[in-house]
Amino acid sequence: MIQILQKLNLTTFDAFILCLISFVSYIIHLLIKHPDCAIGARHRKDLVGPKGIPLLGNLISLIKRKTIVQYEHELANKYGSNFSFTVLGQGRLIVSNDPRTVEHILKTNFDDYPKGEIFYEIANDIFGDGIFSVNGHMWKFQRRIISHLFQGKNFRNLIYTSVIRKSEVVINILKKYADIGKPINLKDLFFRFTMDTFGDISFGVDFGCLTHPDEMAQFVTYFDFTQNRIFERFEEPFWKFTEKFSEKGQQMRKACKYIDDYIYNMINKYKSQLEVDRESVKSLLALLIEAVDDNGKKLNDKELRDVALNLILAGRDTTALSLSWMMYLIMTNHSVENSLLQEINTILSVEMPIPSYDDLKLFQYTTATFYETLRLYPIVPINGRVCVKDNVLPNKIPIFAGECVKFNLYSMGRNEKIWGKDAKQFNPKRFLELEDGLRPNQFKFPAFHAGPRTCLGQQFATIEVVALAVLLLKEFKFELVPGQKSPPEFKDALTLLMKDPLMAKVSYRTKN
Ligand code: HEM
Repeated sequence: MIQILQKLNLTTFDAFILCLISFVSYIIHLLIKHPDCAIGARHRKDLVGPKGIPLLGNLISLIKRKTIVQYEHELANKYGSNFSFTVLGQGRLIVSNDPRTVEHILKTNFDDYPKGEIFYEIANDIFGDGIFSVNGHMWKFQRRIISHLFQGKNFRNLIYTSVIRKSEVVINILKKYADIGKPINLKDLFFRFTMDTFGDISFGVDFGCLTHPDEMAQFVTYFDFTQNRIFERFEEPFWKFTEKFSEKGQQMRKACKYIDDYIYNMINKYKSQLEVDRESVKSLLALLIEAVDDNGKKLNDKELRDVALNLILAGRDTTALSLSWMMYLIMTNHSVENSLLQEINTILSVEMPIPSYDDLKLFQYTTATFYETLRLYPIVPINGRVCVKDNVLPNKIPIFAGECVKFNLYSMGRNEKIWGKDAKQFNPKRFLELEDGLRPNQFKFPAFHAGPRTCLGQQFATIEVVALAVLLLKEFKFELVPGQKSPPEFKDALTLLMKDPLMAKVSYRTKN
């Protein structure tokens, strides 16, 4: 370096000045190129949206936000269904709360909008190459296996038996609270219910979340820890580096190791049991071990591990939160509660106090209440994909490769153009009055996603929510404890996480 400077007859000071000038020129060049948007984002005069600041785009207002869902909802109220903003590190985000856009990205042009790398990287140490994160052949193979399995009678019987078994435990807990008149945190109860149901279904194990909440199984503690850590990583751009040294990084490695060992032990256990007696072994993991795709191919151990963990991730929080938002809405809408009771009392009787699997489809109003809850409180509130090939949306907005197209289900559910003048009202009947009834148009109502990657657990979740809701409402009256925020606030997460406990007073409908 010194030799080069000597050849050019430059002093160190001259070199420093040259570097400084180059740096300042580069910054000026960037400022001219990105006067109101983030570095890396294409300048788009054709799109409306909040003006950003040079180089950072809308990063500062995004940091100051309450939640991303609300930030985007406020922008939708101001700019309409289609708008855009840019964020340093994420480039241009185009929000289009239009059912035609949802259809375009999730179905018609599916191959141009694959799953992005961000979730894959952030969640890889725990969720591996499971169905949630992968594309192409790997995704197709797992999807075929899981959908075959979920359509089978064995799986239906397995989930139904577990759901009823765990619902009975929930009822016994509620009886204790009703007897002593102490309020209960329903959100916490529903999380414990769905975790225990998954433990039972997946591994045939009682995690004890309902019966021994203070000494929950180590698997559950570590699973919760890894899930929280994954959420945190979204907000920490340098997590990969910091986790090498931080305590959280160390804990994460320990938790992942425990979960790996746990699942591989379970796989080995079930494999040995299946060799001895196929008929008596009943769990999701055992069914997965036996499952084959159209070509007779089975999942290997790593795939079994990844699929099992992905299913717990997909189904646990989503169902617990649906139950929480649904109970909140029932407690605050007495006419809906009365209609639910009317349906429940018409179908159930002293002779048939518990519905059979086939009876569940009779609970049309209860199912409509579940869907109406998801319309106003979509559990996956924001979704989107990064475009890999230049495209034009049906509403004529061009999309360039590298840009992200999103839709905000929270805004879509409240949009009068989509749902009519009473869009903001909680009215389950709308799902019974719609032309397509309890099979609503997926692009207008993408709560369970749409197109080839549509949720595989919709039926599973509906069974779990409807069965528990029916059994609980038949037996108990729930009242929101006064003084709580109504509607409840939510937090930023992958799901619409209720921020505070949902405290309810529980009493018997009729004391026997
Ligand atoms: C109320 C409950 C539920 C809601 C709202 C829900 C919603 C969703 C959504 C929005 C997606 C798409 C995610 C994305 O790719 O961006 C999805 C995918 C998926 N869900 Fe659900 N889900 C629920 C319950 C369940 C349950 C109980 C299971 C099964 C255990 C399940 C299994 C799956 C699977 C396997 C996928 C991945 C499908 C694929 O990529 O091909 N879900 N779900």
